[in-house]
Amino acid sequence: MTSTLSSTSPDAPNPSAGPDAVWRSLLDQATAPYRSAGRFAWHFARGKLGRDPVFRHLLESGLIRAQAQVLDIGCGQALLAHLLPAAQQAARAGRWPSGWAAAPGLAHYTGVELMPRDVARAEAALAGRADARVLCGDMRALAYPDCDTVVILDVLHYVDLADQDAVLARVHRALRPGGVLLLRIGDVDRRAGFVVSQWVDRLVTWTRGHRVSPTWGRPLRDWLTTLQRLGFEAEARPMSQGTPFANVLLVARKPAEDATA
Ligand SMILES: C[S@@+](CC[C@H](N)C(=O)[O-])C[C@H]1O[C@@H](n2cnc3c(N)ncnc32)[C@H](O)[C@@H]1O
Repeated sequence: MTSTLSSTSPDAPNPSAGPDAVWRSLLDQATAPYRSAGRFAWHFARGKLGRDPVFRHLLESGLIRAQAQVLDIGCGQALLAHLLPAAQQAARAGRWPSGWAAAPGLAHYTGVELMPRDVARAEAALAGRADARVLCGDMRALAYPDCDTVVILDVLHYVDLADQDAVLARVHRALRPGGVLLLRIGDVDRRAGFVVSQWVDRLVTWTRGHRVSPTWGRPLRDWLTTLQRLGFEAEARPMSQGTPFANVLLVARKPAEDATA
């Protein structure tokens, strides 16, 4: 990644600002709406976006297309509903680092979240935005809209393996050909990191005012086999940099239909 900015627009405010400065301003923009959702919501959004490497990776890697139709399962406070438009605006204003892949953007966002308190925080921050909604309910029961991007970050371990498989099969059906599933999981084979992430997860669940339930995991190779069996082309990227966890981002693409078929 280089540290220069593309300056395709006269709006480019500071050509010497590097990717870190751009990321900080995206973080400020994406978290500002949470001020109206209360102190907890704002601090949580700042902490999560600031410390979890996956969000910056999703922006700089080109994994999410412009005009994406996003389904975010287990969305919590729906952070991506704010981060993606912030990225889109920065790119349009010429404030997108030239070393990053093309900026993502948002056409429509649907979040699915079990916990009413998180949905309330998400809705307060969305404040009636027409391009985003959050459905309150269980991912095992709610209908999924057709989409081209599904994001599931640190969620599937809350349901057992059979339910995980059922959710993934429904995700595959909801995705358009050429669409992508961005699935972060913990690798059970990296025992120490997996155990740490389980305990931190329990603590965060409890501080967010939720009941702590048992969790289910599997080794990375089993995740890849499961995704491939469902028809995805899947690759794994380490995604716990700067944390003690064993997190892996699985990039699972639903192949585009063969145009010659
Ligand atoms: C560790 S948090 C991750 C939140 C969000 N994906 C993020 O990365 O910021 C997991 C989320 O999944 C939600 N969740 C757990 N089980 C769920 C279910 N069966 N249906 C929908 N959401 C669920 C939890 O309430 C929680 O908000």
